[in-house]
Amino acid sequence: MQSHYDAELKDTVRYLGKTLGETIQAQLGQEWLDKIETIRKDGRASYQGDDKRSENLKEIFKTMSDSDLLTVGRAFAQFLNLGNIAEQEYNSAMNVDASIDALFEHLDKAELSAEDVQKAVAKLNIDLVLTAHPTEVTRRTLIHKHKELARCLKELHQDSITDAEREKIETRIADLIAQAWHTEEIRSERPTPVDEARWGFSVIENSLWEAVPDFLRELNDRLQKDYQVALPLDAAPVQLSSWMGGDRDGNPFVTSKVTEQVLLLARKRAAKLFAMDLDQLQVELSMFDCNDELRAIVGDDANEPYRALLRPLVRRFIATRDGISDYLAGKNPDESDWITSNEELMEPLLLCYRSLCDCGMKVVADGILLDTIRRARCFGVHLLKLDIRQDSERHADVLSELTRYLGLGDYGQWSEEDKQAFLLRELSSKRPLFPAKWNASDDVKEVLDTCRVIAKHSQTGFGIYIISMASEASDVLAVQLLLQEAGVTWPMPVAPLFETLDDLNNSPIVMRKLLSIDWYRGYVKGQQYVMIGYSDSAKDAGALAAGWAQYESQEALVALAEEFDCTLTLFHGRGGTIGRGGLPAHAAIHSQPPGSLDGGFRVTEQGETIRYKFGMPQLAKRSLGIYTSAIIEAMLFPPPAPKQEWRELITKMAGLGRDNYRATVRQDKDFVPYFRVATPEQELGKLPLGSRPSKRKPQGGIESLRAIPWIFAWAQTRLVLPSWLGVMRAIDKVKSESDEKIVNEMFTEWPFYRSRLSMLDMVFHKADPRISAEYDARLVPDELKHFGKALRTELEESIESLLALTGQDSIMANDPSGKESMEVRAAYLQPLHYLQIELLERIREAGEDAKNSELERAMMVTIAGIAIGMRNTG
Ligand code: PGA
Repeated sequence: MQSHYDAELKDTVRYLGKTLGETIQAQLGQEWLDKIETIRKDGRASYQGDDKRSENLKEIFKTMSDSDLLTVGRAFAQFLNLGNIAEQEYNSAMNVDASIDALFEHLDKAELSAEDVQKAVAKLNIDLVLTAHPTEVTRRTLIHKHKELARCLKELHQDSITDAEREKIETRIADLIAQAWHTEEIRSERPTPVDEARWGFSVIENSLWEAVPDFLRELNDRLQKDYQVALPLDAAPVQLSSWMGGDRDGNPFVTSKVTEQVLLLARKRAAKLFAMDLDQLQVELSMFDCNDELRAIVGDDANEPYRALLRPLVRRFIATRDGISDYLAGKNPDESDWITSNEELMEPLLLCYRSLCDCGMKVVADGILLDTIRRARCFGVHLLKLDIRQDSERHADVLSELTRYLGLGDYGQWSEEDKQAFLLRELSSKRPLFPAKWNASDDVKEVLDTCRVIAKHSQTGFGIYIISMASEASDVLAVQLLLQEAGVTWPMPVAPLFETLDDLNNSPIVMRKLLSIDWYRGYVKGQQYVMIGYSDSAKDAGALAAGWAQYESQEALVALAEEFDCTLTLFHGRGGTIGRGGLPAHAAIHSQPPGSLDGGFRVTEQGETIRYKFGMPQLAKRSLGIYTSAIIEAMLFPPPAPKQEWRELITKMAGLGRDNYRATVRQDKDFVPYFRVATPEQELGKLPLGSRPSKRKPQGGIESLRAIPWIFAWAQTRLVLPSWLGVMRAIDKVKSESDEKIVNEMFTEWPFYRSRLSMLDMVFHKADPRISAEYDARLVPDELKHFGKALRTELEESIESLLALTGQDSIMANDPSGKESMEVRAAYLQPLHYLQIELLERIREAGEDAKNSELERAMMVTIAGIAIGMRNTG
């Protein structure tokens, strides 16, 4: 069989593995290296189905001490890390522009006019929202080492290096691998929300700051070359937003103080970066010719008018940067010189641009000045826009406490009509609502203080206010009232997040109610944001029902926006993994309903996917290219709206899918006990991944477990249950009762349906019933064993029926290199699973004694290692 996993890549993986082996040998001796090599070989054979070698692995681990298990876990986790680095470096060197190339080829074939292309490009509005979702298992300090390793590999792979250079790079690689081996891979403490935000800023500084203008420059060149169309100077096709330090939903550590600090730190980082850019610009713009407009501003004495204009701006950015540091250190700096608005940056830049063009120096204007203009448009003086997210219940609690204090009864107990009437009355009232003497509870104060922080800071620093678990019109009006009462003088966009099946299904009704209110329409001024929750809906109703509800909801909302003549921006809360709505960008965008991109494309970028997609300039450029080409394609060649008969079938499939899923997850009394013992759910909560707790409510059960640990737990045992449970059975049933022609048509013509099946294809590739059976054999009591067995039977049958439906011989037949990559990892993953099973058994036996022990540490290492091997977490 021809190998799709490139030989060079294989060599790199082998070379890195060997170097790690030498590091281990240097510390622990040959005996350990041999031990690890035996385990690796057993792992590979076991993966290939050799039961005897699986038994070997179990025996080896049974007899090892806790601290030896930790060493083995660390070794395999690090092998997998090195494999990822090699693959990432290999991929980043290839195909940076592949998607843009494909787009232009398609445009060319379709013989589109320059006008059509220009119209689509003008509508391009990609808003990437970086979140602190706790799915990044790798410590920052290791990420730095890995990046440096990737850089060394890149150098090593250059054709022109000399032997001496090669030797130097190889020594450095050995040094970095040794550094990583001798560094703890698990954080000892949770990061704070401020740490998370700082990390997000660094992704901008180290990667996107360079990638965005680079990417736009290349896009512009392509447009000019093929269509004589240019990206206008004021175009901002890419925007950056963030939840880091703003998302307080279920995270008690994100307080109003944190939000304020993060806003200032973002401004400080932007000031630092613009000060450097402008400084370089003023060094280069030494020209003396300028137009009258610039001359009038700098005066006749300025020999170097551009420098004269830019120098004071550099000084003001430095004053802003240093002033914010002083302020955060408790000093009282003079703020009069700080840069506060984007216009203060943009106007002088545009003036320089016009003047250079007027004086015959367009080539200079289009150099680093244009890059700075693009950055000013994309990032602005606040670096990014901070979103705020809070749970609807917290807002209702504020109003309940207030109405009780005012003697009006309990807002929480009122009917929806009464709530709306009250809120609208107060929204139109001129008198303040909060009594001066009202001594609110701490929780209520916190919600109000956040609104006050919004009131205190500049509008341009903020994105939108998202209400999680929104279900009624009053949820939105309540936030608008709180913002108004806190003194926010501008209409901050407030987006309901619909994230359960019922809420998605009701969303058009809720939005119709809102848009029918005169006051509300006056507030939103023709621009409505709605957030679609992918993972909680899937957790609630299973993958198929959630997917169809998301689709129908978006479709109805698009029609509603048209009816009310407003622009609808849909905000997609997609996670990295399939169970949380993750899909390759192209498939994700093409499976959205027609018209849903017209108001822009806003999407969350979470956890480790930020690193995979935007962690280095080349990766970021490639990701921007993928988004841009998918969106332009979908706008110019929209997917077909589903035919009535497709709708009927998918509705049936979704209904059955929901019932199948809930029959197991909600109605079967054995489900929760099985989940608790068969997966490391309880142990996962202890992994200090992010700043927030793993449950929305500390005492809650599975219903309050966040979607991330829910998916994460099932991924560890390779049952990957939430992504497939009930789906194929539903599809098969409907298919067997329906006209085959229609079912085939859905598959060939409807991207939405097709993407459901390709999602399953990817999920089934990650699932491994044999591994799941090993967890059950050791960890699940006999009376529950039937449960896991039945689930695995369904998994195996589902795989068979998917293959029958798609006509493929094997899973992932369309992605041979992805398949091979997973197979290379599988040999390293295998020992980690057996190790985790051994550890889970020991930890559960030890009970409280396992706390903070080596056992627990080893457990964390296997959890992180498996996540790294699967290339995603939850
Ligand atoms: P949430 O996100 O728990 O913050 O709502 C869920 C997810 O991203 O999967």
